Amino acid sequence: MSQGHMIPMFDIAALLALRGASVTFITTPLNAARLRPALSPHHPISLVALPFPSADFGLPVCCESFDALPSPDLMRAFFEASKTLLAPSIRYLRRHPTPPSCVIADVFFPWAREIAREFGVPRLTFSGFNCFSTLCIRNLRAHGVLERVGSETERFVVPGMPHEVALVKAQLPAEAEARFVDLRAEMRDAEEMADGVVLNSFEELEREYLNVYRETTGKEAWAIGPVSLSNNPSNTINRGGKASTDELQCLDWLDQREPKSVVYVSFGSMGRLSPPQTAELARALEASGRNFMWVIKGGDGLPEEFKEEPVTERRMVVRGWAPQVAILSHGAVGGFVTHCGWNSALEGVCAGVPMVAWPLFGEQFLNEKLVVDVLRVGVRVGVERPGGLVEGEAIEKTLEEVMEGGEEGVLRRMRARALGEMARMAVEVEGSSYVNITRLIEYVLKHKS
Ligand code: UDX
Repeated sequence: MSQGHMIPMFDIAALLALRGASVTFITTPLNAARLRPALSPHHPISLVALPFPSADFGLPVCCESFDALPSPDLMRAFFEASKTLLAPSIRYLRRHPTPPSCVIADVFFPWAREIAREFGVPRLTFSGFNCFSTLCIRNLRAHGVLERVGSETERFVVPGMPHEVALVKAQLPAEAEARFVDLRAEMRDAEEMADGVVLNSFEELEREYLNVYRETTGKEAWAIGPVSLSNNPSNTINRGGKASTDELQCLDWLDQREPKSVVYVSFGSMGRLSPPQTAELARALEASGRNFMWVIKGGDGLPEEFKEEPVTERRMVVRGWAPQVAILSHGAVGGFVTHCGWNSALEGVCAGVPMVAWPLFGEQFLNEKLVVDVLRVGVRVGVERPGGLVEGEAIEKTLEEVMEGGEEGVLRRMRARALGEMARMAVEVEGSSYVNITRLIEYVLKHKS
């Protein structure tokens, strides 16, 4: 249901298919409808839309209603129901002419472990996270740190990390939120019992963390990304969404701007700013005097003039879904204001642009630390916890730092470019991610019963 999970999963499926695997991609009818146009009739992925009564759970059933995000309670209901409703249908694969040799399941479907066990094949998880945040969360859990931390504001250090990572509880995914406790526990167990993790990352980006993960867990970790760089079908359909603005219109507008002059602003597929925060950001973007392209979902708090005149010399406001990968790779984009959802942050890395890191929820505060402190290709906007308001002046200052930033700004841009280059090399034939896909396939062939 979350595009931040579905898009890279589909890309992974495509990558495996490209390397000769026969892949069955199982998803909801809504996602299947979005993905189907990307597959040619003879594409080696077979797409299975499992029957699921989306509407009964208040979930969107067609592409156009995607913007209406389900509430956390509805999502919880969906996850609960998916256990009983989806699991039996997947078992039909047992009667498939080529029964699976491996199940790669999203971390939100812990029951997939049972199915893999019934099939007697390896089960690998995909969480959408990078290795850095996976390791942070795992180490906090393993050392019982959160039980010892009292208040939400107490700072603590994550044990067992190669570099110091200091956090407060509020910056972690809603681990302790009452309504998710059972689900989280099941996800933890399923992760522990899995044979390994598949990561949308690459060795050169997270080598130290990948090594620590492998050493401490004794499990395989296959970094096979960045998946957005592969020539995969979801790129041709705007990575899961229906573009709200003509793709060419976005790119035409960028074509007419100076190289590296545009700030691209997006908070992913689910991120919404509060109306006062939207107004502050609008004020800062206007005051910065820079060109900007702002992709906004919802849009409460957006100034009237932005609604009435979304496209001017200096701004382009896209309300809805935008072709993000194409935009980021355009030479006119010089900076990326991102919520640090891992797909977006990695797409920023691939594009070689420095970032303004503005985490909203989930593991995004951990990704912010990776981008700003470890990779040193971003500047934090300074939000300390979900929902914290950032004032216009602070946003403006951060924009200035990322787009200019004196000597450190120059170095940051150089580091960003170098990482982008490494990302491209990783996915080339014999690059580290290419080799990891080979290793993954070899592992499966060796372990299938
Ligand atoms: C979710 C969680 O929020 C995040 O913390 C976790 O790391 C992954 O899952 P999401 O909010 O969907 O992520 O953001 P992100 O990870 O950035 O994924 C969004 C994807 O949709 C990206 O691939 C992005 O390119 C694409 N996208 C988003 C578009 O193509 N157009 C849009 O307008 C918005």
